[in-house]
Amino acid sequence: MVKQTILITGGAGFIGSAFVRLLVRKNIRPIVLDKITYAGDLGRLDQVKGRFTFHKVDICDKKKVKGIFKKARPTLIVHFAAESHVDRSIIDAQAFLRTNIEGTQVLMDAARQVGIKKFLHISTDEVYGDTRRGSFIEDSPLRPSSPYAASKAAADLLIKSYMRTYGFPAIIIRPSNNYGPWQYPEKLIPLAILKASRREEIPLYADGKNMREWLYVEDCVEGILSVVKRGKNGQVYNLGSNEERQNIELVRMLLEIMGRPKTLIKFVKDRPGHDTRYYLDSSKVRRDCGWQPKITLKTGLKLTVRSYLENKSWLLNKHRRIAALYTDRSYNYGF
Ligand code: NAD
Ligand code: DAU
Repeated sequence: MVKQTILITGGAGFIGSAFVRLLVRKNIRPIVLDKITYAGDLGRLDQVKGRFTFHKVDICDKKKVKGIFKKARPTLIVHFAAESHVDRSIIDAQAFLRTNIEGTQVLMDAARQVGIKKFLHISTDEVYGDTRRGSFIEDSPLRPSSPYAASKAAADLLIKSYMRTYGFPAIIIRPSNNYGPWQYPEKLIPLAILKASRREEIPLYADGKNMREWLYVEDCVEGILSVVKRGKNGQVYNLGSNEERQNIELVRMLLEIMGRPKTLIKFVKDRPGHDTRYYLDSSKVRRDCGWQPKITLKTGLKLTVRSYLENKSWLLNKHRRIAALYTDRSYNYGF
């Protein structure tokens, strides 16, 4: 592990930056590739400044990516970079197809050229689509609902084709919904915290009964590290917390922690194609990689609220930029 040259894509994003901070805490100096889109922010890495190598690059830029790989000769890649927000993919899918599919292909081709030993792809539970009961195992069929989820499923299939065709040494990880510090406030939890802190209405799609499985980001990156250490090439691992809640229950928990009234909840028009429920069977990663989450939802939400309130200007600045990013006003996105 110590001898590895580790390259992280999307390391300035929400989960990628948590993974970079974790590696640095373990005295590893990773190479970070990130385009710094609206969602990327090197400020998330302030506390580990100078302890990683950074390249501002678009993963779709074949020439630049190959050049960096040739020079750095990574042995392990953890691929987080993606367009990650479902609502945004409903407005315009183009960037999602480009980055999430084509970008993954560019990285795999560059990785093959330098004889990579392990390529960890960070996929998502959304590739399975939704289910009203039961849980998804790693072999469940892929039935994505949104353009975002379809682009992630397409990347998963492309990776599987590289495994079979070229013997490409990849592992696919499918985490459930992450939450925690430094998440862009277009996502439900940071958006709700921001709104509640300003005593503004919190938009809940439809009747708020859609369900998600919430995983604290520090647990997620520990899980990814356990797969780096013990995961087997060619395998897929679900990474979930078993902390399942309806959106309305989740927002009520946040309001309770923040001492704000439940009347702030406002039901708004639903997201088109909105998945009702995701739930992962994560027994494989627990059994084979020895990982299990440590932070309960209640504790994680308290830590999350505290961190956003301590960094309120960051939250406000990001939120201010959101409206400008969404030019299509035909759908109420809640903010
Ligand atoms: P994020 O949107 O916070 O960060 C994405 C990062 O990728 C940003 O730093 C952005 O600048 C970078 N990026 C985007 N396009 C790029 C490009 N073309 N070239 C280089 N860099 C580019 O996303 P996140 O929430 O941290 O998610 C990270 C990964 O985990 C994604 O692959 C996502 O699909 C997956 N995932 C996220 C969640 C979640 O709940 N957030 C859950 C499961 C899986
Ligand atoms: O499940 C993993 C996925 O989780 C990741 O692959 C995605 O990258 C990540 O964005 C996340 O997708 P979701 O669509 O589940 O997250 P979001 O925070 O957008 O929404 C969570 C739930 O809350 C979902 O049921 C929609 C609902 N929602 C969301 C927003 C932004 C609302 O009710 N109101 C809102 O304003």
